[in-house]
Amino acid sequence: MSKKIEVKNLVKIFGSKPKLALKRLKDGWSKDKILNTTGQTVGVNNASFSVDDGEFFVIMGLSGSGKSTLIRCLNLLNMPTSGEVIVDGEDIVKFDKKQLREFRQKKVAMVFQNFGLFTHRTLLGNVEYGLEIRNIDKDKRQQIALETLESVGLKGWEYKKPTELSGGMQQRVGLARALANDPDILLMDEPFSALDPLIRRDMQVELLEIQSKLKKTIVFITHDINEAFKLGDRVAVMKDGKIVQQGNPEDILNNPSDEYIEDFVKSIDRTKVIQAKNIMRKPNALVSMKDGVRVAIKEMQANDISSVFVVGEKMKLEGIVTIDDCVEAVKNKQSSLKDLLRHDYYKTSEDEYIEHLLENATKSRYPIVVVNDDNRLLGIIVRTSILSGLLPSNSDTETISF
Ligand SMILES: Nc1ncnc2c1ncn2[C@@H]1O[C@H](COP(=O)(O)OP(=O)(O)OP(=O)(O)O)[C@@H](O)[C@H]1O
Ligand SMILES: [Mg+2]
Repeated sequence: MSKKIEVKNLVKIFGSKPKLALKRLKDGWSKDKILNTTGQTVGVNNASFSVDDGEFFVIMGLSGSGKSTLIRCLNLLNMPTSGEVIVDGEDIVKFDKKQLREFRQKKVAMVFQNFGLFTHRTLLGNVEYGLEIRNIDKDKRQQIALETLESVGLKGWEYKKPTELSGGMQQRVGLARALANDPDILLMDEPFSALDPLIRRDMQVELLEIQSKLKKTIVFITHDINEAFKLGDRVAVMKDGKIVQQGNPEDILNNPSDEYIEDFVKSIDRTKVIQAKNIMRKPNALVSMKDGVRVAIKEMQANDISSVFVVGEKMKLEGIVTIDDCVEAVKNKQSSLKDLLRHDYYKTSEDEYIEHLLENATKSRYPIVVVNDDNRLLGIIVRTSILSGLLPSNSDTETISF
């Protein structure tokens, strides 16, 4: 996958003597010491990371850790004190005014926590704003704005003012305004933090849907580790202006690099982070449709289990058979598995989160079976794997992927 954004050794210092502070920073002085001795604030301290094209990259960290400062360097709302911000191979820090204007109008859009809407404009007026300043003609820009508003669920509200809307709806307008320009990159600074939990959850799901449809590159900031892990392909954690750990949610959850991150991870709801693919395993036993009842019985006896999944060609899942049915079939001189197949098991995709599997895992007599879109069997999940998957990171979690 190609790199969309590459940030290299980025430093942002606020104050009138950034050069002096930069030197101290390079000499290894802490953010606090620099502030106390020079009055300069280190916003971002030597951050390096990259974001792939189409990736959902989340930045999290406590208040004041430098998240907003960092994301604002990605469209130069903050001018970095040193370092590079390479987008599509070009260092935007070196852009002249014209290049920067183009970049902001076409390639990148930002969504803010406090929505940042024009209160005197209608929703339509807000959403078409970015197109207006690009001199797109009126009919065209209105058509795009109408379509974009519809895509975020605001059809029928086009001529209302933002103040007539709930917070969740206002943020949909913020999102529509960002999307209307069809930017490659969306920068989102705590866009859902002001929303109440239920609306927030809806917006998260919608954003993921939009992301899977439009394949934007997203940099998203949050305080909330559950939100970070739900949305992020990868997550960077900031502290005192530094990125202290980055990786996919699984990595961070299982190997927090220090106490600061352990503290974050403690509050995570693991059922919302761990997916079927993280805990599924190869079934010890499997039989093929071509095998007969006797083979199935042998498989079950050898593995000390009372049911076994049956697959056809290319591992296509056909069903499950039980030891009781098979023994009965032998008595009746039946040899084919076909008539014995049962389908009262629970099937899931490899991306499903444990929270949605828990109930079925406890109800079902059989393991949960994980299949792909073509119904090919990928793995099974037994109840104990789910429970061990929920244990915190330092316990010996079974995570077998294949
Ligand atoms: N314009 C500014 N002038 C001076 N200092 C600033 C400015 N903006 C941010 N800072 C300082 O930079 C540091 C990082 O702030 P920043 O706003 O990036 O944190 P944050 O992680 O986004 O916090 P929050 O979660 O509260 O939004 C803080 O010490 C802050 O006081
Ligand atoms: Mg902030």
